[in-house]
Amino acid sequence: MSDYLGLFKQELKEGLAEDPKRISSKWFYDKRGDELFVQIMQLPEYYLTRAEEEIFKEQTSQLADSLTGSFEAFDLFELGAGDGQKTFHLLRELDPKKFIYRPIDISSNAVHKLKGTVSFEFPNVQVDPIVGEYFHALEHLKSDRPKAILFMGSNIGNLLDDRANDFLKRLSATMQSGDTLLIGVDLKKPKEIVLPAYNDSAGVTAAFNLNVLERINRELGGDFVVQNFEHAPVYNEEDGIAYSYLRSTKDQRVTIEAINGYYEFSKGEKLFTEISRKYDDAALEVITRDTSLDLMNRFFDEAHLFCDAVYRKR
Ligand code: AVI
Repeated sequence: MSDYLGLFKQELKEGLAEDPKRISSKWFYDKRGDELFVQIMQLPEYYLTRAEEEIFKEQTSQLADSLTGSFEAFDLFELGAGDGQKTFHLLRELDPKKFIYRPIDISSNAVHKLKGTVSFEFPNVQVDPIVGEYFHALEHLKSDRPKAILFMGSNIGNLLDDRANDFLKRLSATMQSGDTLLIGVDLKKPKEIVLPAYNDSAGVTAAFNLNVLERINRELGGDFVVQNFEHAPVYNEEDGIAYSYLRSTKDQRVTIEAINGYYEFSKGEKLFTEISRKYDDAALEVITRDTSLDLMNRFFDEAHLFCDAVYRKR
């Protein structure tokens, strides 16, 4: 508990000292943030989840075969598991005697809720949840059993390319020859489709973005007046990156007790909170460069909005 608070404080202090100020999107996911993200996944504008679910639903046996076809007994890890809905298609397909399901999520709330749901829906599946952020979770991946790792939902896209590549190199280093990794990525596409997914008409994404300020108020003694900030997403079609900001609607000063700091925001100033990268073949190559991961299969939804790419460790 204190570990995570320490990290939260340290990262916040660093991020708010930068120009532009920034707060990492990994702090979005407290109990309220998890609830809002579940709502986002059901929004008409947020096509990502439906597209990936279609892949898991329509191509389950091919996916299972590509990921675990050569394994006898194995561990099925899932990074950033969230509510696990898409994975259920795969769990239904796999032989419960052969594997242990190990979902990993930074949100202890999400991961324990998931254990409950899986145990209820799949009483024969052994579930062993792990609470931690991706980089720390790597420790838990060092096992001798063969493993299949799921990294779905375009979660990798919340990391800048260098960091994503660094992460995949370290992830690959924990894998043994023959282990498999599925990376789910949102594909590059026109602004007219992407931007609404990050700026929905019901305002759920806005609430999700603003919740990080409420979390700082709750957990770190901040005095952000949330109404004085507005959600401001941008999609740069050329880079294929959606950027989320919180724009200050007035000149204001914010104090955060736990980090002993006060921060001036000028009217119109943008506080950077999240990147959501969209991929093509070249971008996928960049993040998997020097990883000793070989691309085995790619699965697409019918409309080619999303891709699940399966890699095998050389
Ligand atoms: C978790 N992640 C992949 C989501 C995304 O699309 O970048 C988070 C999100 N942010 C706003 N809406 C959804």
